[in-house]
Amino acid sequence: MSQKVTVFGSFVVDLMARTPHLPAPAETVKGSFFKQGAGGKGFNQGIAAHKAGGNVVMITKIGTDSMGKVATDAMDEVGLPKDYLFYNEDVATGIALILVDENTSQNEIVIVPGACSTITDEDIAKVADEIKSSAYLLVQLEVNQDANEKVVKMAKEAGVRVIINTAPYQPMTDEFLNGAYLVTPNEVEAEEVTGIAVNDLESADKAAKVFFDKGVENVLITLGSRGVYVATKERSEIIPCFKVKAIDTTGAGDAFNGGFLTALSEGKDLWEAARFAQALAALSVQRMGTTPAMPTREEIDAFLAERA
Ligand code: ATP
Ligand code: RIB
Repeated sequence: MSQKVTVFGSFVVDLMARTPHLPAPAETVKGSFFKQGAGGKGFNQGIAAHKAGGNVVMITKIGTDSMGKVATDAMDEVGLPKDYLFYNEDVATGIALILVDENTSQNEIVIVPGACSTITDEDIAKVADEIKSSAYLLVQLEVNQDANEKVVKMAKEAGVRVIINTAPYQPMTDEFLNGAYLVTPNEVEAEEVTGIAVNDLESADKAAKVFFDKGVENVLITLGSRGVYVATKERSEIIPCFKVKAIDTTGAGDAFNGGFLTALSEGKDLWEAARFAQALAALSVQRMGTTPAMPTREEIDAFLAERA
């Protein structure tokens, strides 16, 4: 039985093109494929957690334009309640322009957060009870940071375990990090926050120490195709990822974070949760897109059984 969890974060429409190579400045490249789909780090993580079997409260904000329908359609498709969706009548739904190199699967992303960067105190007051009665709150850094600061403070005060996915990186106050149950940067963000380049267990331990000193309880650093570093104050380890043929790694971090949240809500420890989340992420990188690439619980369980 999974505990209730809240994902508070961005929704944007992903406009993704695959291209033979990423364009240089002033270069125009003919792409080979285009796909529009639901995206945004918050939404991707919420959908991943929900499809993995989590009891998810998804809080985000969209415009009243046609792009906003991409969010409501995606929620309807997977049966995720729309009760905590806010609307801004004056600001357009956010979008992300995503270019994926079809040979290397490297990507470049420009995000215009739009409505999801206009979350107000009034919006937050409407979801306060849901946040305070959750076992975990997961946030990223893609919505307006003042809103993030408020919900994180509210959750900590209510004894809710807070997970901060530090993506995309932006400066954070020490108060924001202090008392967090877990931070989940990727290796680039870990370096941006700590100043330490993470390339092996020793350097990851040094970066983790910086987070511990800032009052964070546990640290997890995703390392792309090298897997994930997981650390408590007593133990740290790099867990390799599952070997699969990746075709689009955009949103792999979101898949991981969503899977990790659901696993924690089911009572799995950090190490078991990392394995579950890596399975979810390994399935997602074999498909194109972000939210549409998130697997179902049946697919995750079958994959784990096959790789046991
Ligand atoms: P993004 O910003 O694109 O969402 P990220 O940088 O936040 O990604 P990564 O560290 O690239 O996240 O990946 C997160 C997790 O996804 C990894 O820890 C790993 O488990 C899984 N993963 C990523 N790339 C691959 C791959 N090529 N094969 C298998 N698993 C992968
Ligand atoms: O992490 C991937 C996400 O980052 C994409 O869905 C895009 O919307 C950007 O926000």
